[in-house]
Amino acid sequence: MRAVSANLLALLILSACSCVFYIWSTLDTRLERHKRSVPLSGTESFHPGVSTDLSAKTFRALLAVPAAQRPHLRGRFEVHNLTGERDQAVSVGSRDYHMNVDNKRSAQREGPVKLGSPVEDGIFWGEWLEDLLPVGFTEEYARAWRERARGHRIVQLEPGCGRISNQLATFADGTKACVRYGINADQVQGETLTYYLASLLGITNLPPLILAQLNVDSEQWASVRRRIDSLQWSERAVVSLTEWVSNLTGVVTPAPLRQESNGLHPLLEGLWNRTTGELLELMQWTDLIMLDFLTANFDRLVSNLFSLQWDSRVMERDTNNLLKTPRGDLVFIDNEAGLVHGFRVLNMWEKYHNTVLSSVCVFRKRTTQRVVELHRRRNSRIRLLELYRESEPLSSELGFLSDEHSGVLQDRIDRLYKHILHCKGKYGQL
Ligand SMILES: Nc1ncnc2c1ncn2[C@@H]1O[C@H](COP(=O)(O)OP(=O)(O)OP(=O)(O)O)[C@@H](O)[C@H]1O
Ligand SMILES: [Mg+2]
Repeated sequence: MRAVSANLLALLILSACSCVFYIWSTLDTRLERHKRSVPLSGTESFHPGVSTDLSAKTFRALLAVPAAQRPHLRGRFEVHNLTGERDQAVSVGSRDYHMNVDNKRSAQREGPVKLGSPVEDGIFWGEWLEDLLPVGFTEEYARAWRERARGHRIVQLEPGCGRISNQLATFADGTKACVRYGINADQVQGETLTYYLASLLGITNLPPLILAQLNVDSEQWASVRRRIDSLQWSERAVVSLTEWVSNLTGVVTPAPLRQESNGLHPLLEGLWNRTTGELLELMQWTDLIMLDFLTANFDRLVSNLFSLQWDSRVMERDTNNLLKTPRGDLVFIDNEAGLVHGFRVLNMWEKYHNTVLSSVCVFRKRTTQRVVELHRRRNSRIRLLELYRESEPLSSELGFLSDEHSGVLQDRIDRLYKHILHCKGKYGQL
């Protein structure tokens, strides 16, 4: 009886919240639409003030209260050859990943083939596993897609990429992309800069992305002029386009990363009994957790953790904004909450970000090397800005992180480094 009353009460509270949210989000969307009609320029954030973004359709939006505070910058840590390898100059996109993996590799993923220990040097995924990771979108592939997509005529815009502010676009050649208008420029920046940060880290699970500026008089948008009008998208707004990938399915959070587990660490029971495919998936999860921590993206694992308060089975359902190819490669979609929005609402989510990060003590060596380098040189802002400017002709239209948010990013890199060092201290001598 008590449980029933508690559930009823929770339901009532949720319904009340939904009503408030609905009214608020409608107002907010209109306001933001108005804002977006102002042309953008410059290289800093266009929303320097605190803005409350209630765009998402779930409870997550209700929690997205402004958090215009900057976390305390932590001290620096000296690097002592953390990865156990000679320091390497890591250049962006230096790995030649490929979209299609040969059959031999696919077979190795399926079976129990073991070419060595899953973990080596204490806290790193075995080199043999890293070598088997086919890795989604190669730098070469992404560059070719971006070149092709830029200015390509869009012949249709329709639902198919989530909420109404996302549209499934069909290009003249029949290929597709998800267009994200975003509720405001912060979200488009978050999506775009997360893509480039992942690229800096050598994480290639994000579909290729370009920016485009709405201009119904241009050949690119002319065929969908009426649809743009009906969506009330503002002329000149900068939107992102990401490659649409077919045959994706949902992904449930693996048991070691759920709250009831003791985390994903080198001593995890059963780690040695897993198939190569399972280990490869776990390895991609560890990259995801690093990336989401750095970008403070609460709209994936972290929001699930939060939902546990009233939904004890949330972890048994698909994880937000994470999909998987038939081959088992993870695809990180919808990164709008990262960096800009995620940094604004840090005070709300930070404890959950910390919990998720602290649940992992196994990492990809190659990702770690890049984190170490960004930590040591303290140049994440300039590296990200350079890559963004080089790769994206509309970068100056959309703008970049504010100085404050650039500092938050560097701080999170330093904290991630410190966490890896902690894991090395705990498990490195095994
Ligand atoms: N790049 C993509 N390739 C294929 N399908 C995609 C892609 N991006 C989005 N989708 C599809 O659209 C759905 C919603 O995507 P997304 O998370 O970007 O939108 P959303 O409005 O945030 O929706 P939700 O609230 O469900 O997260 C995905 O679950 C997927 O089915
Ligand atoms: Mg989403």
